[in-house]
Amino acid sequence: MDWQAWHRDYDDPESPVSQRLAEVRTRLATLLGAVRGRPRLLNLCAGDARDTVPVLAALAGAGRRVDACAVELDAELAGAARRSAEAAGVTLDVRTADAADPATYADRLPVDVLMLVGVLGNVSDADGGTTIRAAASMLVPGGAVLWSRSDRFRSEPGHDYADPAAWVRDRFEAQGFETTAYVVPAQGHWRLGVARLATPSPAPLPDRLFTFVR
Ligand SMILES: C[S@@+](CC[C@H](N)C(=O)[O-])C[C@H]1O[C@@H](n2cnc3c(N)ncnc32)[C@H](O)[C@@H]1O
Repeated sequence: MDWQAWHRDYDDPESPVSQRLAEVRTRLATLLGAVRGRPRLLNLCAGDARDTVPVLAALAGAGRRVDACAVELDAELAGAARRSAEAAGVTLDVRTADAADPATYADRLPVDVLMLVGVLGNVSDADGGTTIRAAASMLVPGGAVLWSRSDRFRSEPGHDYADPAAWVRDRFEAQGFETTAYVVPAQGHWRLGVARLATPSPAPLPDRLFTFVR
């Protein structure tokens, strides 16, 4: 998969992914704004972090700083994320690295907000389950995950849900998360969820969370 080409869909402000982007930014701003003290944010498979940088900039304009880290494997996209953070005058620790390996960002954990946007639809259901279980070990008490999943299947399903996003939502709930938002657009295949966790899991993180299937 050419993820740089995938990002070009953002050039069309009417595209489904642009509409999702607007929703992600709004939800992220609300989540970070609600944290008491300095929020800690981790964005896995962050792409060029266009969902994060403007939110950090708006918060900085209101006098609020965020300890933010973005992990992206593609060097070009990671470079774009670094450049846009610099241009916006915000601090974003961009790591060009494998987000499937928790050792990459162990020093950043636990966080108030974990972003898994554009991740769970690109991995097998088994890896999705592993990642969701791991998310429960990556948050502070009361922390939240902002996640997305399309309603399409990219690999052989490991369940009988008609909509795999509903399966993801229910997997978070099975790990003790409370779904506080589940956005289904009038048109378009994306779904966006916000899930909050009162009590994090003490389970150690696995060595690997996922492998992209495309
Ligand atoms: C669907 S895009 C989502 C990008 C961004 N989160 C967004 O929503 O705009 C998936 C991203 O995951 C990145 N990626 C794939 N495998 C990865 C891995 N193992 N570690 C870090 N990033 C990865 C790709 O390079 C791509 O930028």
